[in-house]
Amino acid sequence: MRFKAEKLYDHFAPLYWVKYGRSADETHLVYLNMLLERVDPPGILLSAACGAGLHDGPLLEAGHSVVGIDQSAGMLERARERCPEVRYEKMGLQEIEFREAFDGATCIDAMEHVCPEDWPGILQSFREALKPGGVLYFTVDLGGDFVEESYERAKAMGLPVVFGEIADKVEEIYEQVQAREASMIPDELADSAVYHYHPSLEQVRTWLEQAGLAIEEEGTGSAFEDWYGYQHLIVRKR
Ligand SMILES: C[S@@+](CC[C@H](N)C(=O)[O-])C[C@H]1O[C@@H](n2cnc3c(N)ncnc32)[C@H](O)[C@@H]1O
Repeated sequence: MRFKAEKLYDHFAPLYWVKYGRSADETHLVYLNMLLERVDPPGILLSAACGAGLHDGPLLEAGHSVVGIDQSAGMLERARERCPEVRYEKMGLQEIEFREAFDGATCIDAMEHVCPEDWPGILQSFREALKPGGVLYFTVDLGGDFVEESYERAKAMGLPVVFGEIADKVEEIYEQVQAREASMIPDELADSAVYHYHPSLEQVRTWLEQAGLAIEEEGTGSAFEDWYGYQHLIVRKR
């Protein structure tokens, strides 16, 4: 599932600025600013699962240096074009091994591709990557009515899913999507071809507590109309 997510993002990367995310969502920017208010410049920030660097510009503009990591080489290529000042490295969230290196970190619109088994370890890695008192802004994709339906379908298929995982159409749709020109693929189809996991917020809070990350701010929101949205969380290393 993870390998397919990497390949899928590589496939879509050349189109990223044409089709998606030409500008950042307003709600995201509100929380990004909350992070920036908590870190005095010049600091060093980690942009984890940075994608095409959509949210890295504001970090630089605030006077920080930035290290961006992502598992998709294609997305990193886009990011390097957009923010040449950022040090981008190909690295999965599961491979982060920084130690007290950052004053702050972001992980925006990416944890939905992480399976439940990997969540606790990644939150722990974020904590270890932060300097004492360092702050992380991350989002949790809240899912929607489709979560239940997808879970039932995956169970019926014999997939070893837990509630919240969306994996039932990945095998079926991934090959079709890879074989087609990225510009010809509707967003819903692209979305179904990549694994998602929508944990409950109760579960996320438990994992944060276990990882030693204290919530300072949180809220729900997305600028897209008719869409369920994200939970935005600002957490601090205890
Ligand atoms: C929707 S994009 C968001 C990118 C960026 N953070 C933003 O806000 O525009 C999700 C990104 O997460 C990356 N990603 C997904 N799973 C990952 C993992 N396990 N490790 C590193 N990157 C991952 C994808 O390659 C993709 O670039």
